[in-house]
Amino acid sequence: MTPVPYRVADRWRETGDTVTLRLEPLGRPIGEPRPGQFTMMYAFGIGEVPISVSRAVPIEQTVRAAGAVSRAIHGTRTGGVLGLRGPYGTGWDLDGARGRDLVFAGGVVCGPEIMMRLTAEALVARGVPAADVRLSLERNMRCGVAWCGHCQLGPLLLCRDGPVVAYETAAPLMAVKEL
Ligand SMILES: Cc1cc2nc3c(=O)[nH]c(=O)nc-3n(C[C@H](O)[C@H](O)[C@H](O)COP(=O)(O)OP(=O)(O)OC[C@H]3O[C@@H](n4cnc5c(N)ncnc54)[C@H](O)[C@@H]3O)c2cc1C
Ligand code: FES
Repeated sequence: MTPVPYRVADRWRETGDTVTLRLEPLGRPIGEPRPGQFTMMYAFGIGEVPISVSRAVPIEQTVRAAGAVSRAIHGTRTGGVLGLRGPYGTGWDLDGARGRDLVFAGGVVCGPEIMMRLTAEALVARGVPAADVRLSLERNMRCGVAWCGHCQLGPLLLCRDGPVVAYETAAPLMAVKEL
């Protein structure tokens, strides 16, 4: 649970409020993340937030300044130090996807869960087998290790059972209002 200090080795702007940080460990590095996993990024003295991994080696993470913690991480300059825990969560099933056509839905459907549900429903209605649809679900997270319950979606704890969840598992849960 103790964050490993990482130095910002490089940073570049993606959009007006989003930067990518390349990070190098100052202690024993965290394990190599798989695509779809996230880390808990710690801005020392401010707080910790979950951020997906954009690249595993060297580790790169892309952060939008949304609130106090992500703003502090976003504002960390080259040479500055952040803390990392993880990697956490499920990843994308790359072996299952090998050799098959893939459709990624993002951007305007990255919005609230209802947008993801409607997008998945539209794919299924157009003939994509429900068993082949995966969602990347995000909820507020605190511990990242299935202790605190902040990320609960019915029986799932999304820090452990997500963020990548099979649509067939998520669909009945997402249909329940305010779950
Ligand atoms: C598994 C996971 C992966 C994530 N990956 C990334 C990433 O790669 N890059 C990135 O920039 N952000 C990512 N996020 C979102 C990021 O964690 C939040 O923006 C951050 O927690 C906001 O915290 P804050 O203290 O900066 O702002 P807060 O003051 O806590 O929030 C600022 C605003 O953002 C909203 N918000 C907070 N958390 C989320 C969320 N999970 N989804 C949508 N809106 C939210 C709040 O409702 C509020 O309106 C991810 C979240 C999860 C759960
Ligand atoms: S973030 Fe604490 S249980 Fe998932």
